[in-house]
Amino acid sequence: MRTEWEDLAEWWQQELADDSGYAEEVLPLLLDLLDPRPGNRYLDAGCGDGRVMRAVVETGATVIGCDLNLELLRLAKAEGPVVGCRLPNLDWIRPATFDGAYASLVVEHLVDLASFFAGLAEAVRFGGPLALVVNHPLFTAPESGPVVDPTDGEVFWRWGTYLEDGYTEEPAGAGRVTFYHRPLATLLNAAADAGWSLERTVERGVPTTTRDPLLASQGHIPRLLGVRWTRGEEDF
Ligand SMILES: C[S@@+](CC[C@H](N)C(=O)[O-])C[C@H]1O[C@@H](n2cnc3c(N)ncnc32)[C@H](O)[C@@H]1O
Repeated sequence: MRTEWEDLAEWWQQELADDSGYAEEVLPLLLDLLDPRPGNRYLDAGCGDGRVMRAVVETGATVIGCDLNLELLRLAKAEGPVVGCRLPNLDWIRPATFDGAYASLVVEHLVDLASFFAGLAEAVRFGGPLALVVNHPLFTAPESGPVVDPTDGEVFWRWGTYLEDGYTEEPAGAGRVTFYHRPLATLLNAAADAGWSLERTVERGVPTTTRDPLLASQGHIPRLLGVRWTRGEEDF
């Protein structure tokens, strides 16, 4: 079955070109959480055009990228070896092949969180890190969004259906992209159930570079979530 991300290469490239927030916020946060070590081998799950791979390789580490979008994979190939894959399926990786793994802005596009974390736990050696950067769950909740108090113009955040799993569909070029929403607890528990030990969590507000006029100067509203885990010693 063909999925929407197979047709979104052009849209995603345009998003990156139009948004300095990625280079200023997402990439540095991911690198900080992953803390890549020279000589170590990492898996980039959902590598896109390979821009995170490039930054990790620059630290002296090696990276294998995987993605389902062949157009983006062709670009990522310039940064290191790549594999066509359909997450959460990581059956093609032998156990403990990697010293660590990461995924930048990918998890919110996957339906099956449990299989994703379990597959990565198989692929990474004991003690190895997993770093994720995702759109903050407060931001992905269906029916959430900014509301302006008409009396004084103050901007508030409407929670929407934050506490339930759900999804939203956003326009993406000529197509659409689906964001799966899970409350923070669901994300953290799914990782714990798969044997990932939480090390660090970072929450970031709306960047000053936002293109949304309603959210300009609303740095107190959560926008990004970053998490670092390590693969627990116990075999789950
Ligand atoms: C928002 S882009 C992020 C790309 C890259 N990680 C980055 O930070 O530039 C999401 C990426 O996840 C990939 N993706 C989405 N669903 C996937 C799936 N089921 N299996 C593999 N890749 C997937 C898309 O093709 C796309 O490259």
